[in-house]
Formats: sequence, structure tokens, C-alpha cells
Amino acid sequence: MNQTSNPAPVILLLSGPNLQLLGRREPEVYGTDTLEDHVRTATAAAAAAGFGLEHTQSNHEGDLVDAVGGAVGRVAAIVINAGALSHYSRALQDALAAFDGPIVELHLSNPYTRDAWRQSSVVAPVADGLICGFGGLGYRLAVEAAAELAGG
Ligand code: DQA
Repeated sequence: MNQTSNPAPVILLLSGPNLQLLGRREPEVYGTDTLEDHVRTATAAAAAAGFGLEHTQSNHEGDLVDAVGGAVGRVAAIVINAGALSHYSRALQDALAAFDGPIVELHLSNPYTRDAWRQSSVVAPVADGLICGFGGLGYRLAVEAAAELAGG
């Protein structure tokens, strides 16, 4: 992890495909809270640590690649739940590798107890750490970790 030049005290939360359906999507796996609920949790955790929070959700790989590219040198840290893209998007991995601040990978579920295809992550090799399996609590934990790593 490199230090950013002079980034704003902002944490960028990125949400990948299908996370807009949280609350209705396989609630037995992902819980009943909506993405909006999780963003509210993340925003409060960021504020408590002295950071602002920006959030982007997209079902499209290129949008997330663009969001990471636009974060370089601009924001202090990234928290990313890339959904299924976590398991195969080399474009997202390359984009994250170019980011010059801390990166925390986040999942609501624990992918390592699930389908074989979920048990590898292309985000993990370019992230500082991983929070998974804690449901909505993970949003607070991931933001706290990102803020701490960013020096907040
Ligand atoms: C997820 C886990 C991924 O395997 C899955 O494709 C998702 C959600 C999680 O938050 O648990 O979309 O990232």
C-alpha cells in the first residue's frame, strides 16, 4: 500500500452487481437490510472516524473500474463489496492495484463457506484486508479498518 499524495478525508464505498437488491435478494444469505441501510451504517462509521463517505453501486464492471480510477489521488481509502465481480474481474483487480491508498474487501456472507467458485477473490491480492461473514456489521468494521489504515 502506497500513501496517497493529498487525498480528501473521504472513504469510497463501492457496491457491485445485484447489491441494489439487498433486502429482497436471498435474505437467508444476505439478510433483510437494504443497501441503503448499509450505506447509512458506513456513513455513520466514517463520520465517527472523521471521514466523509461516497457510495457508488453498479451492475456494470466498467462503471466500477471508472470509479476506482477516479478515486486515485482523490480519496483516502476504498471499501469494496464487488459482489460476483470479486471472483473474476481482472479489470477491477488492475484498477484497484493502481489505487494509492488502503483497500478493504467486504462481503456480507462468508464466501469461503459457500460455492467453490466463490472461494477465490481477485480483489484479495490487491486489498489490505478482508471483512466477510459478519452481515451488516461488516460495513462498520470495514469502514473503521479503512479509516484506521488511512490515518484517521
Ligand atoms: C457477496 C458474495 C459474493 O459471492 C456474491 O456474488 C455477492 C455478494 C457478499 O456480500 O456476501 O453478490 O459479495
